Parts: sequence; C-alpha cells; structure tokens
Amino acid sequence: MLMDDVKEVLISQDEITQRCKELGEEISRDYKDTVPIIVGLLKGSVPFMAELIKYITIDVELEFMAVSSYSGTESMGDVRILKDLDRSIKDRDVLVVEDIVDTGNTLLKVKDLLYSKGASSVEVVSLLDKPSRRTVEIEAKYVGFTIPNEFVIGFGLDFNQKYRNLPFVGILKEECYR
Ligand code: IMP
Repeated sequence: MLMDDVKEVLISQDEITQRCKELGEEISRDYKDTVPIIVGLLKGSVPFMAELIKYITIDVELEFMAVSSYSGTESMGDVRILKDLDRSIKDRDVLVVEDIVDTGNTLLKVKDLLYSKGASSVEVVSLLDKPSRRTVEIEAKYVGFTIPNEFVIGFGLDFNQKYRNLPFVGILKEECYR
C-alpha cells in the first residue's frame, strides 16, 4: 500500500481544503477586474489547481505547461519546456500554479518565459514553500503552507513519479528513496 511508505502526514486533506478556500477568496478579490489565465505546471500542480479553482468566484481561463526540473530528489538547475502553452497570453494577467517552490529556479525561468510571451503580469500561487532551500531571489505571491527542509510527497508531489495521488502532503520514509 502507498500509505506504508509514508513516515508522517505533514498537511492533512482538510487543512489543504481550508487553505484553498482562503487562497481562492484572496485571488478572486485581487483579480476581480480582469480575467486571469491560470497556468498549471504539469504534473505536480494538478490536484492543487483542481482544488483551488473551485473557490475562485471570478471568470478565469485555464492553461497548462510542462517543464522539467527534477530527477529524483536532486535539483538540476536547468529547466526545459516539455509542453508549451496552447494559446496567446499577450497582454493578459497570468497566475502560475505550482506545487512547491524549492530552490526557485523553475519559477524564475517560467516567469521570465511568460513575460517574454507578452504577459502583462505574472504572479505565482504555490501549495508549498521551502524558503530555506532558495538559491535565487523569487517569492510566490500566494503560498498555501511554508514547510521545513524535508522532501515531501503527495497532493501532486512525487518521488520518481510516484505518490502524486496521495490526498495529503506527507514525508516519505527514508528507506523509500535511499
Ligand atoms: P525548484 O526549481 O528547485 O524550485 O523546484 C521546483 C520543483 O521541484 C517542484 O515543482 C517539484 O516538482 C520539485 N520538488 C522540489 N521539492 C520537492 C519535494 O520536497 N518533493 C517533491 N518534489 C519536489
């Protein structure tokens, strides 16, 4: 069973739902005069994006992008575009949805890219933030939870593509990644 690999539940399903409600309300207020394009970064953002948009009460459009950043638990520093946006974001307000901001490299590159495509604003909403790991200066405007320097899995976050379907954020048992 998937659960057997989990050392500890860090953030429960209920806590995530509650926080998504708060973030959804905040985003709805901040973007009330525009129709933002919400860009989900595949695949980690999918569960969070699905939960968050239920609580956004204004018109939005959804887009997806896939970039590669991680292999196993180590950051590689470079970011590749695996799937680009389907539609133009020129002169649009863009809100990027991310699972976690770790070193910040992914978001820095993605933000630059979206601005180079003509977005009028690019902000970020991330389920998790690991500020202690940051190597570049970047912050998400909206953060679900700030967490310590632990490798986490679940609610979209994977280890070698596994555990994304866990309905909570947890810490993996060490023997599972050693
Ligand atoms: P960054 O570019 O270092 O900020 O890394 C961002 C990406 O690394 C995230 O979108 C995740 O896919 C992955 N990542 C970073 N930390 C973790 C973690 O603790 N668990 C699972 N994936 C992680």
